Amino acid sequence: MISLPQTTSWAKAILHTAKGFEPSPLTVLSGAIPAGLRGSLYRNGPGRLERGGQRVGHWFDGDGAILGVHFTRAGATGVYRYVQSAEYQAEEQARRFIYGGYGMNPPGAFWERFKPTKNAGNTSVLALSGGSQSDRLLALWEGGHPYALDPETLETYGLHDLNGLPKSLPFSAHPKRDLQTGDIYNFGVSFGKEAMLNVYRVDADGTLKQKSSVELDGLPLIHDFVMAGRYLIFFIPPVRLNAVPLLLKLKSFSDSFQWKPEQGTQILVFDRDSLDLVSRGETQPWYQWHFGNGFINANGDAVIDVIRYDNFNTNQYLKEVSTGKTHTSSKSTLWQIRLNPLTGETIETHELLDRSCEFPVVKPQEVGQFNRTTYLLLHRRGVDSTQDFFGSIARFDQKTGELMEADLGENRYPMEPIYAPDVENPDQGWIVTVVYDGNRDRSEVWIFDSDRLNDQPVCRLALPEVIPLGFHGTWKPA
Ligand SMILES: [Fe+2]
Repeated sequence: MISLPQTTSWAKAILHTAKGFEPSPLTVLSGAIPAGLRGSLYRNGPGRLERGGQRVGHWFDGDGAILGVHFTRAGATGVYRYVQSAEYQAEEQARRFIYGGYGMNPPGAFWERFKPTKNAGNTSVLALSGGSQSDRLLALWEGGHPYALDPETLETYGLHDLNGLPKSLPFSAHPKRDLQTGDIYNFGVSFGKEAMLNVYRVDADGTLKQKSSVELDGLPLIHDFVMAGRYLIFFIPPVRLNAVPLLLKLKSFSDSFQWKPEQGTQILVFDRDSLDLVSRGETQPWYQWHFGNGFINANGDAVIDVIRYDNFNTNQYLKEVSTGKTHTSSKSTLWQIRLNPLTGETIETHELLDRSCEFPVVKPQEVGQFNRTTYLLLHRRGVDSTQDFFGSIARFDQKTGELMEADLGENRYPMEPIYAPDVENPDQGWIVTVVYDGNRDRSEVWIFDSDRLNDQPVCRLALPEVIPLGFHGTWKPA
């Protein structure tokens, strides 16, 4: 085992090697499960960051482990399983790392480094629902195809090709779903002689219906995109892959990306019916992992929320996260951009919230439309955001600018807040998150009234083991 380099509580949760657990009833620690909370929470994230005494190169390299929490009339049941990819199984058997990832080359002799990259399946989840045959949970990772899992037991079935997506085209980890049509939009960046942005429309049961491709300028890193009304909008940050050291296996993907602010942020706007490119634009240089949401206002402008970083230091910070000790500053705040989707021209850019934040989420029914509220994670007031992790959940009111904050207290760390609509009352919703409590070294499910984050959680549930801090999740209604 690797000893902990510092005693901060978040490091204990990050460096914990999860074992996983079979479906288990969850004990209510306080409050009661709301009667209208019916469905499943799924969360994905790295379950382990070391194997055989070796640590991964970057937080993004950890093997994906999925937590499922099913809420029924009988109570809540939790299940936690690793994505059983072929590479995971091979490394499990060998009890050592064999493959490389985003932030690491395969270990061993120089010629061993030319093995394919491991599909970590660790970034997010997408719940497909098209009848029993196609009821699948997809474990998403942006460098390849997703893995399909049983949505109840989380048993891994195998790679899923969306019923026709060529193996060479990845399916990224931030799909957008139009709840009116059931259509799912996503993309994948393929690296060949040129990098291509491949844009997809997929139906509710996970069948690829439409695809288009546009050549990209250089080899950029694109993690997320925006659905705004009838448009799909990409902001391509000024980060470019230097292919030579990567191809010679002298550096990992992560270490081969270079910050090139002189290139600005490139904008590509697609029509989501035809998937045709409508316009191109360029704006100031910044980096983003995530967008909050997008919509088209009464003037026909696209209004987009983004969690914006001044540069690409965030990648170094996230690399350090995997060691349990961080020292690179990478503050990100919530910004709004207004642009003309027909010309790609940026009309206005301004900061909405000057608090260090990430993991923005909106109500599922508001994706692509005006959203009154945005939920996100914040650093607690007064903490050093370079060394501590997010300790608050907040609800930002887009009309009033009011910020309602749930500060979870010292040594408690929530994960991305997931919005779960109430099945009985359309005006009611719940924020469901998984909290690591470093004071007790355990993980819990916390449920808040989505409009009363500043009240105590309405319910807390005990989880059988520590869930390492992770990335993204989803809510599947019953
Ligand atoms: Fe992400």
